[in-house]
Amino acid sequence: MSEERKAPAVRSGRLEGRAGKAAERAFTALDQRLPAAEGGTLLRKVFPDHWSFLLGEIALYSFVVLLLTGVYLTFFFDPSMNESVYRGAYAPLHGVLATQAYSSTLRISFEVRGGLLIRQMHHWAALVFVAAVGAHMLRIFFTGAFRRPREGNWLIGVTLFQLAMLEGFCGYSLPDDLLSGTGLRTAATIIGSIPVVGTYLNFFAFGGAYPGHDFIPRLYVVHILLVPGALVGLITAHLILVVYLKHTHWGGPGRTNSNVVGAPMVPQFTAKTTGFFFMIFGLLAALGALAQVNPIWRYGPYRADQVSTDAQPDWYVGFLEGALRLMGPWETNVWGHTFMWNVLVPAVLLPAVLFVVLYLYPFFERWVTGDQAEHHLCDRPRNRPTRTAFGVAAITFYAVLLLAGGNDVIAYSLRVSVNSLTWLFRGAVFIAPPLAFAVTKRICLGLQAHDRDLLSEGEETGRVSQEVYGRIDEGRRPLPERRRYTLLLRDVPLPLQPAEDEPRPVPRRRRLRLVLSSWYYRDRVELPVGAAPPRPEVTAPPREPLTEREEGGSAGQ
Ligand code: HEM
Repeated sequence: MSEERKAPAVRSGRLEGRAGKAAERAFTALDQRLPAAEGGTLLRKVFPDHWSFLLGEIALYSFVVLLLTGVYLTFFFDPSMNESVYRGAYAPLHGVLATQAYSSTLRISFEVRGGLLIRQMHHWAALVFVAAVGAHMLRIFFTGAFRRPREGNWLIGVTLFQLAMLEGFCGYSLPDDLLSGTGLRTAATIIGSIPVVGTYLNFFAFGGAYPGHDFIPRLYVVHILLVPGALVGLITAHLILVVYLKHTHWGGPGRTNSNVVGAPMVPQFTAKTTGFFFMIFGLLAALGALAQVNPIWRYGPYRADQVSTDAQPDWYVGFLEGALRLMGPWETNVWGHTFMWNVLVPAVLLPAVLFVVLYLYPFFERWVTGDQAEHHLCDRPRNRPTRTAFGVAAITFYAVLLLAGGNDVIAYSLRVSVNSLTWLFRGAVFIAPPLAFAVTKRICLGLQAHDRDLLSEGEETGRVSQEVYGRIDEGRRPLPERRRYTLLLRDVPLPLQPAEDEPRPVPRRRRLRLVLSSWYYRDRVELPVGAAPPRPEVTAPPREPLTEREEGGSAGQ
């Protein structure tokens, strides 16, 4: 090899050596001041790959878009309830008396550069954010990712879900237009329906009789400071827990309850997730540019003596609106005080019960199962028919209420009587959820039976042959090993049984637990364990919780 060709190699070797030493010195200096070495471990954190894990990321990135667009809007929005005659760029409203909140929203829409785009992006991001949070919560529920050790993150999550809805409702109410004002009017009535303290709370919130002059400025503080602050803090805690507890993953060869298989944080996951952020940002920008949302100039400013038909809240409040519309006109007068059951039950007690059930569900299921073990593998929903059926029944209940919240629009569009429709929904709210429960459970058991057939008879080849004697045979071939393993990797508890030495008669609480456990777990399709040797079905939980998880597996699997 000639000298000329050797020289660059020697020089680059020296440079590399110097650069390596400089990097080492810089790293040591950094490590003396910050937990840089620990950060290295963080960079190697493993994230499993599955589309359902993107739902949380959609929630996260739409929240980032909300923050970015929201900051821009604060530069121009004036949260004042002082009224003046509108003389801005939107000529059809000239001469109308409107609050500064309403006029400044019109200014953002028609006079501020890029204002309408940013306003619409902000509104779309809010709609997507709450939808993504809801969908993410459902994925956690149906895969059992709320089980030990992630109950804490479930509790944080349920709080985040409520805060997300509250944040959306506050923002929606700020422009003080006729539609959102109608929503605030409903909110004031809901607060007022709380026995004993309702009227005081109302006066406290509105600074006197509704609507007053204080509410929009107060709502503004809640919308841009208190709730976002709580959201940022809780999302940070939520993500720290995701990293600390490590992610659940779907079972398969090499993916067990004691490892986590996926791509490392740097560079694969970071590259993918950054791209994903820009996709969400682009989608929301496209929606903001192309799809009109909340055109408040068409509704006009809020006036307490006016209300329009076709008044719909944003989708996530629709279930409450529906519950209110379905409730009968029930009130009780006691010593001159009115109990407004027609508002209290659907708009205060019902959501309170729903959220208490959500908070407690992981603990309830653990009590029914008696299962104290850690779970890091996602459940296939079909393998937990009762839980899955519960989830679908709850979604059905929610869907009926949501539809009922639009009963006027549906009645108008379909040219049917709004009263008949309301009665139909009243029936459906009681009948549809149990029906959905029964059908879902049957479907889950049917899918389990399908898994059993696949394991014992193999998968269809699509070829049908006929013997010379006339017998027709559908072609089947054994399942590939990986698939058989995945199907057999299920962890389904057996119903609890009374112990031999249990005191008789069995105490009532224990009896209830045994009955619930049997109701939860007695229906199952046994898989032909012998048909596939790799791993037997786990039929009972391990008694001791697993404490250590190795973070292993190959990247990108
Ligand atoms: C502001 C709202 C929320 C954001 C930004 C958020 C974000 C995330 C992200 C990025 C992940 C990791 C990826 C994934 O599994 O999808 C995650 C995991 C998780 N989230 Fe959320 N989340 C939110 C609300 C919720 C809600 C409402 C719940 C449930 C009630 C919840 C429960 C969980 C749990 C238990 C995990 C761990 C899942 C696992 O390891 O498989 N989160 N979240």
